[in-house]
Amino acid sequence: MADESTELPKVITIDGPSGSGKGTLAARLAVHYGYNLLDSGALYRLLGLKAEQQGLFVDGSFRDSIVPTTQLVNLALHLDIQFVPNQDQQLVVLLDGNDVTQTIRTEQAGSLASQVAVIPEVRVALLQRQHDFAVLPGLVADGRDMGTVVFTDAPAKIYLTASAVARAERRVNQLRNMAIDANMSDILSDIEARDRRDTERAVAPLKPADDALFVDSSSKGIEEVFAELVSYIDSRIQ
Ligand code: C5P
Repeated sequence: MADESTELPKVITIDGPSGSGKGTLAARLAVHYGYNLLDSGALYRLLGLKAEQQGLFVDGSFRDSIVPTTQLVNLALHLDIQFVPNQDQQLVVLLDGNDVTQTIRTEQAGSLASQVAVIPEVRVALLQRQHDFAVLPGLVADGRDMGTVVFTDAPAKIYLTASAVARAERRVNQLRNMAIDANMSDILSDIEARDRRDTERAVAPLKPADDALFVDSSSKGIEEVFAELVSYIDSRIQ
């Protein structure tokens, strides 16, 4: 029998572009395996929001031509955030004790997130916070660089993608279900801009880990993808 004191959390990483379905699948996998869940995109969204509240952004762009790296790192290190399950087992996200669950899901918050995420010092400042989510028995970590940077030793790594159009359609439906107004062509160009920023950035660019399972979900239903992922993970994790 494994000695509990030396047993390490098992980590499953899911990386991919926004709208690939990885958020939904990561949450389902966490429930399925009884593992903790890290939504790393939420950390970047929360930091973007906090920076905006502090006046570092004006009209969606950094206020000054010089990027405020030091202030952002400070905010990242001291972010007061909590993820609290509600009675439906959905996570309520608190920033400084205030419920920002819906606010961080807007396209604007996504854009702020991807601007703070290109700064290497900010990514380093958020590393320890992400590692802290890895607790026994395991973790499902959802993001862009979970398998390539944050949890390189993870025994199961997944790269989930879909065409930009398929992802934009999903995002429009998701936002409308949350009663957030959404326009298809705006969302598509936003997704394409964010993809470019995420894949072309110098540090931790979005790309599959060499040892990741690559899944294109453009023409697959969620159940089909879920079954494919479970069968892969079961083969990697005892
Ligand atoms: O996954 P989500 O769409 O919530 O992420 C928002 C943004 O945060 C991404 O577009 C990306 O720029 C950034 N991000 C990142 N690394 C992660 C997760 C998110 O750079 N691990």
